[in-house]
Amino acid sequence: MKKIIAPSLLSANLAFLYRDIEMINDSEADWVHIDIMDTSFVQNISFGFMFTKYVKKYTKKPIDVHLMILQPDIYIEQLKNCGVAHLHIHYESSIHLNRTIFYIKEYGIKVGVAINPHTPVYLLQDIIKDIDFVLLMSVNPGFGGQKFINRTYQKLEDVKNIILKNNSPALIEVDGGINLENAYLLFKNGADILVSGTTIFSNSNPRKVINRMKLGY
Ligand code: DX5
Ligand code: ZN
Repeated sequence: MKKIIAPSLLSANLAFLYRDIEMINDSEADWVHIDIMDTSFVQNISFGFMFTKYVKKYTKKPIDVHLMILQPDIYIEQLKNCGVAHLHIHYESSIHLNRTIFYIKEYGIKVGVAINPHTPVYLLQDIIKDIDFVLLMSVNPGFGGQKFINRTYQKLEDVKNIILKNNSPALIEVDGGINLENAYLLFKNGADILVSGTTIFSNSNPRKVINRMKLGY
């Protein structure tokens, strides 16, 4: 278990985006998480290439991109040009998942497969050896500030078992509704990476929240 924290810019104050990127730079956070949505897969529009390039220009941390879009293949090259380090594609939005995974890898980008709360973990079996991350959604994707779905603990255990059984190098990332209490339990139960938006950015001392998430208190 790695205890990586990836603050989600979906909850940043966009009027002070540079300030919030600097906060992440000066914190114990490991990565910066960008949620890209286009209304096709989720009912929201968020960030795109220009935003991602801006973040890349000022961040000192690897950029972890969560694609909530249909037909992710179309945008891989542009995202490579934005300097992203990791790309998560949704199982539910990728018709030719195996092909898309290898397409992303060809660009030298680490690849994760995200699954919605309703998607059974066993569906990852045939690609688990080929990916760097499983992104376990602990809310229905599309919006920040939602309530953590408790069934995620069971899914975490199931993902861990699939990874071990297949001798996969994949790390487990959990995204949505993360707070200090469930962060402690998720790390304790085998999560490697936690994405957090509201809990970090709504606090008057976001660096302290990041520290506490890592230290588990
Ligand atoms: C939701 C996004 C999350 C979101 C998490 O679809 O994938 O990354 O920003 O935000 P919180 O921590 O507020 O649930
Ligand atoms: Zn996300």
